[in-house]
Amino acid sequence: MTKEAMQRITIPDIVEMKAAGKKITMLTAYDFLMAELLDDAELDMILVGDSLAMVVQGRDTTLPVTLDQMIYHAEMVGRAVKHALVVVDMPFLSFNLGIEKTLESAGRVLKETACQAVKLEAGPEQAETIQALTSVGIPVMAHVGLRPQSVLAMGRYRVQRDKAQLIATAKAAESSGAFSIVLECIPVEIAEEITSAVSVPTIGIGSGPGCDGQVLVTHDVLGLFDGFKPRFVKHFSEMRQQSLQGLKSYCREVREGIFPDDEHSFR
Ligand code: KIV
Repeated sequence: MTKEAMQRITIPDIVEMKAAGKKITMLTAYDFLMAELLDDAELDMILVGDSLAMVVQGRDTTLPVTLDQMIYHAEMVGRAVKHALVVVDMPFLSFNLGIEKTLESAGRVLKETACQAVKLEAGPEQAETIQALTSVGIPVMAHVGLRPQSVLAMGRYRVQRDKAQLIATAKAAESSGAFSIVLECIPVEIAEEITSAVSVPTIGIGSGPGCDGQVLVTHDVLGLFDGFKPRFVKHFSEMRQQSLQGLKSYCREVREGIFPDDEHSFR
């Protein structure tokens, strides 16, 4: 089937995949080309993650990325994607300064990009915020467990083991209207328990195989990012090495006068 003929995946489609026992696939994109590539690979969901602060901007944490920068990237991704459901991260502090500001910020994401939902890092205190967003029709994916936006308070990225609090937070997100919940860095058994306790799909990252779907950073999956490699990251190709070889070949051929040859020149 051509991409044009394929229907857009909707929020109800994602929710129904859990009931149907179909695993959900999700990866990150931050620009048009990568988003098109992911859509061609038939991902179910694409995330414009605030990880772009680290992957694209070269920052140490996700904290510095602004709402305007998220919207700039989300606009490119939204324009490229025809099939997958596109979710945009709400950056640090864009959903903590009162309900009115949060509605305005999340509203901007949906109005200024062709994306379909927002994601926010949720503790128990975010239930009211999720409720306010979903009540005006803004679909919300909650992000429970390790919350990278709290890294300064945590000291470092850690596996989250407070079972009672994790389950309560996931349930609060569900009852506030979240259509899906990312579970980051949660031990396998707890992630399985959360997945059984909620009716909306859980999307795991570093939370084992029992989640309803999986998400990773695309640059990690493709082996493009060679910085920090957490235990849960698997390289499905080695694009950094392959790209380096190609780039070195280009330099060598230019330096030795091999490129451009007749085939790549005009007469
Ligand atoms: O920002 C991000 O990329 C995320 C992940 C869940 C991959 O939040």
